[in-house]
Amino acid sequence: MRLFNFSAGPAALPAPVRERLAEALEPDLWGSPSVAEISHRGARFSGIAEELLARLRSLMGLGEEHEILLLHGGANLQFAWLPMNLAAGRKAAYVLTGHWGEKALAEARRCGSAEAVASGADAGYVDLPELAPLPGDFAYLHYTGNETIHGVQYPAPPDAFIPLAADLSSEFLSRPYPYSQLGFAYAGAQKNLGIAGLTVVLIRRDLLDRIPSGLPKYLDYRTWAASSSMYNTPCTLAWFVALEVLRWIEGMGGLAVLGARNSARAGRLYAAIDNSDFWSNPVARRCRSVMNVPFFPADDRLTMPAVAAAEEAGLIGLKGHRALGGLRASLYNALDDDAVENLIDFLGEFERSRT
Ligand SMILES: Cc1ncc(COP(=O)(O)O)c(C=O)c1O
Repeated sequence: MRLFNFSAGPAALPAPVRERLAEALEPDLWGSPSVAEISHRGARFSGIAEELLARLRSLMGLGEEHEILLLHGGANLQFAWLPMNLAAGRKAAYVLTGHWGEKALAEARRCGSAEAVASGADAGYVDLPELAPLPGDFAYLHYTGNETIHGVQYPAPPDAFIPLAADLSSEFLSRPYPYSQLGFAYAGAQKNLGIAGLTVVLIRRDLLDRIPSGLPKYLDYRTWAASSSMYNTPCTLAWFVALEVLRWIEGMGGLAVLGARNSARAGRLYAAIDNSDFWSNPVARRCRSVMNVPFFPADDRLTMPAVAAAEEAGLIGLKGHRALGGLRASLYNALDDDAVENLIDFLGEFERSRT
């Protein structure tokens, strides 16, 4: 049976990348070691690292005013690392559109002074909250580009006259994006850029000057900028996979092509949900996520039977996050083109069988 993987992350890899990964783990006939068994300081891996950084810079449309850092620790570490570095002695502003923004704010509060300047919590995170103009003394405005659990996505970065700091974990490289307008952004690789173990950070170079002295070296972004992200041993396999994913993105036609495809197929899924009396999605149309679509059966007791029936039909990873319940389809770049059609057929059949 053909499997369609709707997992929210770690998520599906493009099939050609999976094949390259399998090949790359084989030592070759002449006995040279596989990509996971070579020094990160040797010529072979240096070539991978250089190409990875160059391709990321070009895909993101970044010039010399931004630094790209390849780090460990996932987005969760950035929740603390960012305020430690960029909000020292100042207040940081957070706009909350779901679970991940709440977590980011909670960590920022542990590291210094941070406040929620707008929040969609009271409405149940189904829309973008209004954002009043912010005074210039805030260090940055943090927002979650795409809330992976609640399925709420900013169509474009919010307006603010202070540096924007974006958690782009679940929408990184899924569409053309004005990366160069951001002061700071971060994303784990395990959704659209390969496998877990690599976190991409972009930071505007002038913001590096705001970092206080005396931080642990590891937790100072300048350490990573000065060492081309090789301060310690990187997760070499994740870097290798990320490079293969970038080559694949280019082969697919780039971010404009992927972005158009992603929004068309998400649109088909939302239309099927909206046209049904059984399935529903509560998020306002202006900010529905193109990457993660949460949806609910009319009777919550049917959630788990639906997840089980979907698995039997080869549709896996559809169980919603425990914080929200229901089901969730993650439609990352690597999802097969006909996965959404299969899901829509399944939703119709399940509805018919239960009504
Ligand atoms: C928007 C968002 N932020 C943060 C995280 C946490 O990422 P990590 O597991 O890389 O720390 C996730 C994970 O799903 C996410 O979707």
